[in-house]
Amino acid sequence: MDELKSYIETNRERFLDELFDILRVPSVSTDPVYAQDVVTAAEKVKEYLQKAGLENVRLEQTPGYPIVYGEKIIDPTLPTVLVYGHYDVQPPDPLELWESDPFEPVIKVTDEHPEGTVVARGAADDKGQMFMHVKALEYMISHNRLPANVKVMIEGEEEVGSPSLEWFVKNNRELLRNDIILISDTSMVAKDVPSITAGLRGLSYVEATITGPSHDLHSGLYGGAVANPANVLARMIARMHDDKHRITIPGFYDKVVEFSAEARARINAIPFDEEQYKKMLGVDALEGEEGYTTLERASIRPTLDVNGMWSGYTGEGAKTIIPSKATAKISMRLVPDQDPAEITRLFTEYFQSIAPPSVKVEVKDFHGGYPYMMPTDHPGYIAAQKALEKTFGKKVYPFYTGGSIPIVPLFEKELGSKSVLMGFGLNSDRIHSPNENFGVWNFLKGIETIPYFYKFFADNHLS
Ligand code: BES
Ligand code: MN
Ligand code: MN
Repeated sequence: MDELKSYIETNRERFLDELFDILRVPSVSTDPVYAQDVVTAAEKVKEYLQKAGLENVRLEQTPGYPIVYGEKIIDPTLPTVLVYGHYDVQPPDPLELWESDPFEPVIKVTDEHPEGTVVARGAADDKGQMFMHVKALEYMISHNRLPANVKVMIEGEEEVGSPSLEWFVKNNRELLRNDIILISDTSMVAKDVPSITAGLRGLSYVEATITGPSHDLHSGLYGGAVANPANVLARMIARMHDDKHRITIPGFYDKVVEFSAEARARINAIPFDEEQYKKMLGVDALEGEEGYTTLERASIRPTLDVNGMWSGYTGEGAKTIIPSKATAKISMRLVPDQDPAEITRLFTEYFQSIAPPSVKVEVKDFHGGYPYMMPTDHPGYIAAQKALEKTFGKKVYPFYTGGSIPIVPLFEKELGSKSVLMGFGLNSDRIHSPNENFGVWNFLKGIETIPYFYKFFADNHLS
């Protein structure tokens, strides 16, 4: 398929222009201020799917944001690939840390990306990665090289837990019937290490509020006599890990699957430079659960982390008060076979049990999701492996990521099909963070690799 490479080379400026067009729309799903923009992004995705030659392209209305759907059914006897991605993005905050406008994409040349990297919110997560599929399909359809049926489904609520998609999937099993799901919404181990995500962590997310006195108090008049909710919350959170960095919630580890020595050796065989990792993160030392390596801690071990915490006076200067309330947002990343609802329950019970009688506790339950595993002998995994081998000319590694895509285990439950997580991002893409970016090289490599996935998956299906 040298024709494929030359198609990409000839059209690369247009591909990037079109991606920029989508990136300019601030489709932040969590904040109602952007509601109109989220819909505009859906309409743009719809247009580009139509231009790529997909059929029956439409916005499927849901209780929330629309799902963009399109298909190309060339022969019902051929296998069907379902492509999933998301057009919504995380909020751009904190804005002052961006070197350029989050919704005015620019190409920046860096040491890691001498070919340039697209800087914008959503560049890697997931607009840029989703768009690789649109462009790969454009090539396959226009050159008569689509060897399978394809259905494309791009949602607008991934970053808020996919509530509408869950509803849509449950009500459209026939429409979405497929032989394999293909997703690019994860990263590779490194630019020169082609790799496929073989596992995702699950998620349990809570917001815990401690209430003490009914109103803020003068910290001189009352300090020492009443419980300070900020002090109490800090103490309770500190109690949730022991000195080996293990989580102290009773029952938390009961269902955690311990990986075999062999599986752990495979994880630790992935090329990984701890010094470079520390440098990228700007830390002098790492820390985590005793007895596990950094790669293991960030993939096959569960976690509990404060994501945000506030209480009392946080403005300029000093204000002497004892706050009435203190709140923390907490995420727990889960591994097989932990159950998100059960973990949320265990957290809530424990959190309530360690609170002193001087305060009230409230725990809000946010979106969650199950962990996911993709066996490396699955035909979908093997097709992706062959495709990456072809375009990188190198050994392909399976690896487990620490991130979550809750809809993936739900697809398995509701549609009975596995998802291939063939991502082209890098861990240094700063997703969810200021200056998110996606390498031009990665973008084009994705477009080049995807058609081979279809070829190898369809070939295998015939034989
Ligand atoms: N694409 C990410 C997940 C991801 C990124 C997995 C990189 C592996 C590598 C996805 O958009 C995401 O951010 N998921 C959320 C969960 C969701 C319920 C908000 C996450 O992992 O925090
Ligand atoms: Mn994503
Ligand atoms: Mn995300």
